[in-house]
Amino acid sequence: MEILRSREAVRRWTAGHHAAGRTVALVPTMGFLHRAHTDLMRAAAAQADVVIASIFVNPTQFGPDEDFARYPRDEAGDLEKAKGAGCAAVFLPTVAEMYPAGAATRVHVDTLSTHLCGGSRPVFFDGICTVVAKLFNIVGCDVAVFGEKDFQQLAIIRRMVRDLDLPVRVVGHPLVREADGLAMSSRNAYLSAEQRQDALALSQALAEADGRFRDGERDPDVLRALLKRRIAAVDSMTLDYAELVDLEQLQPVRGPLEGPVLAAVAVDLQGTRLIDNTVLGRAG
Ligand code: PAF
Repeated sequence: MEILRSREAVRRWTAGHHAAGRTVALVPTMGFLHRAHTDLMRAAAAQADVVIASIFVNPTQFGPDEDFARYPRDEAGDLEKAKGAGCAAVFLPTVAEMYPAGAATRVHVDTLSTHLCGGSRPVFFDGICTVVAKLFNIVGCDVAVFGEKDFQQLAIIRRMVRDLDLPVRVVGHPLVREADGLAMSSRNAYLSAEQRQDALALSQALAEADGRFRDGERDPDVLRALLKRRIAAVDSMTLDYAELVDLEQLQPVRGPLEGPVLAAVAVDLQGTRLIDNTVLGRAG
């Protein structure tokens, strides 16, 4: 597996594969890799001839009071995991490599990015769009794979690709859970044993909403109230949002529900932000 640290080296790497007729898939990550990431890498291998992962804790998507400085990092462990998941290369840029002095451009996707996670994290999606657009341009990938745990991120990136005519096919991959239901996240590393137990309320609330939907409940307000009630019952959690939104525009839905909708939740658990979601009414 090649370890590439400069934009130039990545461009040469992709050009070599394209010249040989091979397609390239990118899996963008912020590192501290876990099974949800390695699943994305394996899924990417089914989409293209070679896979490159990027590992970059992107400062522009963190607000001033957020956890950029303490975000978990483990370069050696990440390289091992990426190799084990079949990556042909990893791009590990520094902040200066990604944002040379004077960098002043931000990519902003309107409407989709102003609520849900965007409501409480005003710079979040502009930072993500900026770094993902840059990664697409640097890598020159044919396809890129993102997890559905960050469902809003995925929808925004699809919109950005469409609006800016970026020549990249965006593929979503299902959310990956621990055996007890907790959505996998690098931030789970922040949780004490007790907090981790409390965190299960998110997946349990979503599973309960899913069960009620399957049993015929079609009033979104009833399902929203259920999610909020389950989260409010956990003292250590502060609710950011518990919403039911449509799958395209991610706008709050009114009843009676007809097609599939996204149930999405975000909380602060004593300083750790956790998000989770499930699609109610999706076949399979
Ligand atoms: O989902 C993430 O890990 C990040 O938001 C991404 C897409 C790698 C951009 O920094």
